[in-house]
Amino acid sequence: MIRTIVYISNSVKLIEENTLNKLFLQTMLNNTLKNITGVLIYKEGTFIQILEGKAPALNNLFKKIQTDVRHNNITKILDRMNAKRLFGKFHTVLSSRGNARQLVNLETFLTDRADSSHSNTLLGLLHPFLNKSNNSMNALSC
Ligand SMILES: Cc1cc2nc3c(=O)[nH]c(=O)nc-3n(C[C@H](O)[C@H](O)[C@H](O)COP(=O)(O)O)c2cc1C
Repeated sequence: MIRTIVYISNSVKLIEENTLNKLFLQTMLNNTLKNITGVLIYKEGTFIQILEGKAPALNNLFKKIQTDVRHNNITKILDRMNAKRLFGKFHTVLSSRGNARQLVNLETFLTDRADSSHSNTLLGLLHPFLNKSNNSMNALSC
């Protein structure tokens, strides 16, 4: 079984492109090593992250994330066990401004998989963050 956690949080200050890219790189490298999948989106001072993985690895990671001083108001909005991952095959990095095409890719990917109540729930939670008209968005899927 795969544990899925979704949370939202606020960056402690307005994050610069550079800092965000470093955070995304760290996340991508660590999560690949630990077989954690999901998506991390930053929009206007708010993060939303979906994390999927085996319970022990995910528990350890979430403890680290909760003590990270780069964000606060960490609020878990979903925590459930599911038979399989939603993001298992999606490794595209989405980053920075003006990457509307990659955001469309993410939305298409999710919409194509909106075939179960689990994927529909996750798509619904991400939806407000996938607003393509807002070009101040950064997202990473790993
Ligand atoms: C919003 C946010 C999301 C994060 N997501 C992850 C993540 O998915 N994976 C990860 O390894 N680190 C993530 N981090 C960083 C961790 O809090 C922590 O700094 C990192 O895991 C430490 O890695 P290390 O033990 O290899 O030094 C995140 C940090 C923030 C602020």
